[in-house]
Amino acid sequence: MHPSHLAPYAARRTRLLADMGAGLAIIPTAPERPRNRDNYHPYRADSYFWYLTAFPEPEAVLVLAGPRHPGEAPQSILFCRDKDEEQEIWQGFRYGPEGARTAFGFDAAYSINELDARLPELMADRPTLWHSLGHDSAWDERIATALNGVRAQARAGKRAPEEIRDLRSRLDAMRRVKDHHEIAVMGKAAAIGSAGHLRAMRACRPGMMEYQLEAELSYEFRRLGADGHSFNPIVAGGRNACTLHYDSNHQALKDGDLVLIDAGCEVEGYASDITRTFPVSGRFTSVQKDVYEIVLASQAAAIAASRPGVPFMTPHEATVRVLTQGMVDLGLLQGSVDGLLENGDYKRFYMHRTGHWVGLDVHDAGPYKDGDSWTLLQPGMTVTVEPGLYLRPGPGVPEALAGIGIRIEDDILITADGCAVYTTAPKTVADIEAVMRHDA
Ligand code: GLY
Ligand code: MN
Ligand code: MN
Repeated sequence: MHPSHLAPYAARRTRLLADMGAGLAIIPTAPERPRNRDNYHPYRADSYFWYLTAFPEPEAVLVLAGPRHPGEAPQSILFCRDKDEEQEIWQGFRYGPEGARTAFGFDAAYSINELDARLPELMADRPTLWHSLGHDSAWDERIATALNGVRAQARAGKRAPEEIRDLRSRLDAMRRVKDHHEIAVMGKAAAIGSAGHLRAMRACRPGMMEYQLEAELSYEFRRLGADGHSFNPIVAGGRNACTLHYDSNHQALKDGDLVLIDAGCEVEGYASDITRTFPVSGRFTSVQKDVYEIVLASQAAAIAASRPGVPFMTPHEATVRVLTQGMVDLGLLQGSVDGLLENGDYKRFYMHRTGHWVGLDVHDAGPYKDGDSWTLLQPGMTVTVEPGLYLRPGPGVPEALAGIGIRIEDDILITADGCAVYTTAPKTVADIEAVMRHDA
């Protein structure tokens, strides 16, 4: 994870500080996780910490200190690892506090080894401590120790914060509406993610293994500069596509089957999340095409319904109506569409929601309801639109349809007057067949 610009991160700290009053916020990054012995999982910063710093090293904590009295300047303080020549020879470059302060624009920076000693002084005489209580018990204990450190100085006139609040709700509200920098970076993640899907379509041949198609995506993501996958990719041939989270990707792709790929990449911490379903052979059968067109039309209905002021669930409702009509047309369900929507029978073949926020986390932070009502879409929100039909073999599923699983997923940005679909891999029957025409 390496940021292309740092100013947006500083601007977010300033915004948050303006919102925090005289409080003190403590935002640690993620710990490194051992895989076995001295071998570690690839490091990924905590999303909240990254959102406010773009600082890539583990063992770092951001402290935001609001002004305690008029005239005191708000401060962004980083605690991070010291420079260490021996460690840098083995593990690579470390900024060190002074290097981090100047490179990332913090007001002050100290060694992470000084954190516990400095926290009581930083906490003293502030009304509020912003800390995500319960997120990590080791941190809860560390904070409690620091609070007791302040309380021990009561006779010296120091007061400990009386209120502990969760910063995540403030940050979630900020993260739900993307700024220009985030939109630009997510555009890159979408372009590279889309290129990966295109490469997989072009490479696909009957007899290949699902993991070999996964390798095409991985290759393209890294070749084009993404950090890697934004979640475990799903490459599901034939009826594997009816298992929503199938990701073992270990089976052979058969001529005559469809393959569903749900995969996205991560760029500077930001995810794309894209699903395409296409024929292993490059040509849809007429039955596959019938089902595919229903899913595609239901996606178009959701996209058409996505604009500012519309409740989050409205695009989902538009999708479900088109899919349910399709289920009736295919002979999967009997009855009126309104009746089937009412009794929920459609959930047998479409059991998930049509979208989620996407951003630093693939299922991004941010509430879906404000009060008791579904959030109203607003410009800057980024959402997936991912309808599907999953026709698991079973009673009432005609033989010709049994085992077909189709999902089509794009990422959209809500704009001033509608939305922009910013993932671009081919998705009409004609476009998919054209890119897969191996002799062309
Ligand atoms: N790839 C996870 C999802 O589509 O929600
Ligand atoms: Mn997905
Ligand atoms: Mn998704």
